[in-house]
Amino acid sequence: MRTHNCGELRKKDIKKAITLEGWVHSRRDHGGVIFIDLRDRYGLTQVVFDPSHNKELHHKAEHLGREFVLNVKGKLRDRKEGMVNPNMPTGEVELLVDELEILNESETPPMEIDDRKLPNEDVRLKYRYLDLRRQSMQANIILRHNVVQAVREYLNKNNFLEIETPLLVKATPEGARDYIVPSRVNPGQVYALPQSPQLYKQILMVSGFDRYYQIARCLRDEDLRADRQPEFTQIDVEMSFPTQEAIFEIMEGMVANVFESAKKIKLKTPFPRLSYAEAMARFGTDKPDMRFGLELIDVTEIAAKSEFSVFKDAAAKGGKVKCICASHDFPRKRMDELIEFVKEQKAKGMAWAKVEGTKLESSIVKYLSDDAQKKLIEKTKAKKGDMLMFVADKESIVNNALSALRLKLGKELKLYKEEGFNFAWVVDFPLFKSNEDTEKLEPAHHMFTMPNKDTMKFLEKEPAKVIAECYDLVLNGIELGSGSIRIHRKDIQQKVMKAIGISDAEAEKKFGFLLEAFKYGAPPHGGIALGLDRLCALMAGTNDIREVIAFPKNKAGQCPMDGCPSAVSDKELKEVHLKWNLVKK
Ligand code: AMO
Repeated sequence: MRTHNCGELRKKDIKKAITLEGWVHSRRDHGGVIFIDLRDRYGLTQVVFDPSHNKELHHKAEHLGREFVLNVKGKLRDRKEGMVNPNMPTGEVELLVDELEILNESETPPMEIDDRKLPNEDVRLKYRYLDLRRQSMQANIILRHNVVQAVREYLNKNNFLEIETPLLVKATPEGARDYIVPSRVNPGQVYALPQSPQLYKQILMVSGFDRYYQIARCLRDEDLRADRQPEFTQIDVEMSFPTQEAIFEIMEGMVANVFESAKKIKLKTPFPRLSYAEAMARFGTDKPDMRFGLELIDVTEIAAKSEFSVFKDAAAKGGKVKCICASHDFPRKRMDELIEFVKEQKAKGMAWAKVEGTKLESSIVKYLSDDAQKKLIEKTKAKKGDMLMFVADKESIVNNALSALRLKLGKELKLYKEEGFNFAWVVDFPLFKSNEDTEKLEPAHHMFTMPNKDTMKFLEKEPAKVIAECYDLVLNGIELGSGSIRIHRKDIQQKVMKAIGISDAEAEKKFGFLLEAFKYGAPPHGGIALGLDRLCALMAGTNDIREVIAFPKNKAGQCPMDGCPSAVSDKELKEVHLKWNLVKK
């Protein structure tokens, strides 16, 4: 048995008899003496094979390769003068080896266990066990463990019960495609894998478990991005008899506990709250990164009166003219590049003007009266030398283009500290959104979200005006979580279904079991789910959730390590009553 781990030996341990076990991280031969950095999860310790101390052992050590697994016994000693490594916690000491046992050999590893030498992603994922040996990956996985423990600690203390919900379910309504699992014992029938525990956690409220949580695995067949995996984990929470504020308070307390215990960071609570409408107006997005300003400014009223046809036409068609004001001197070439950038975001173009005192300098000034220029400068609070950048179009296009430009410039101009954590609640979302392809209304969050009291009256005639009791938690411009107060009354549920054109028969087929449960005394309830992977990634200083998942999928949804998804034999297919009839693409 090891007496110590590879990260803990210090000067106080000198002269002690020590046994260490670990991997050969690196090996150096200096003047006939072999130095090995032995590694385990806790750190590195230098171990020494000196021929003048033990010739036979030194000879044996000559054959040690990278990633061999060793057991070494010896005495700890001071490092010689000039050999101390101040960057290593164990850097003042070394183990002079008296006994060596090779516990296992290793072939030459296909990647180096070194944060500075990363191979490409597929190599990392194929040899994930080696990738996970790297210091930064070990730190990420340990961080994730600590986050989960802090979540459990906080929720347990606040009377929440951790309850598991099934993985083989009837389809859940999160709006992505389901993964399906054919049933062997029920020919022709399938289970869905849960996109979230949504319906089950609501049913648990009907059962009287008034505070539920789960570190829940969710599966969604959707296109992958840096912050999206086909299987991911939610911190899933539901409460009975809640108010929106009560849910916010619990979540703020939980997140604060997580940061305190896993990062030693004290967060300021409550987190700021802003409405969806305000977020869209000021930042052009419902996920505002509020670490910096550079807000969008609506100048439609001033621009509509100008002679510049792009501005005038957009305003006349009910669109918007918005701008951002950057305190930076951009050369002409850079402006051309930024124009290309906003065009990639579907804007037709971008006009710009440099502020010179009370006047603007730009190719469009000829269309702007002195008064209009003055008003623009006043409205944008621009100073001499600032650059105004305008996009005029349909409001959604303007918001989309300028919010992307804002993020780009915020990063480039270093307007915020990368390591800061800026939380915000976005509230008062519309209950419905219009589907981009079909233009039909669909639930903005999900079917069971409660309309707010004040706008409930629009449900039948002007559903687009209905505001939902629905909220998102945003961290540094990333949607961390989403939730809502749910509908627990049949009459409201029916009106919502009617507004989006779902018939009683269809509702019965899709989630009749929930509606049935609601007949027997469903309490008012609501909840939220935070993306655990996103939370850990942001805490680890990355946007890529694969960095905090032990075994993620690659961009094509495959696992290069085990080779899934993979073919299945005809025999296995037959067992679940299936036969391929693959359609050629
Ligand atoms: P929603 O679908 O918004 O809500 O998901 C909640 C949070 O889960 C995370 N998330 C993902 N993380 C990684 N990969 C994905 N593919 C992925 N999809 C979602 C995000 C997101 O904010 N049942 C509701 C919650 C509720 O109403 O209580 C739900 O699942 O961080």
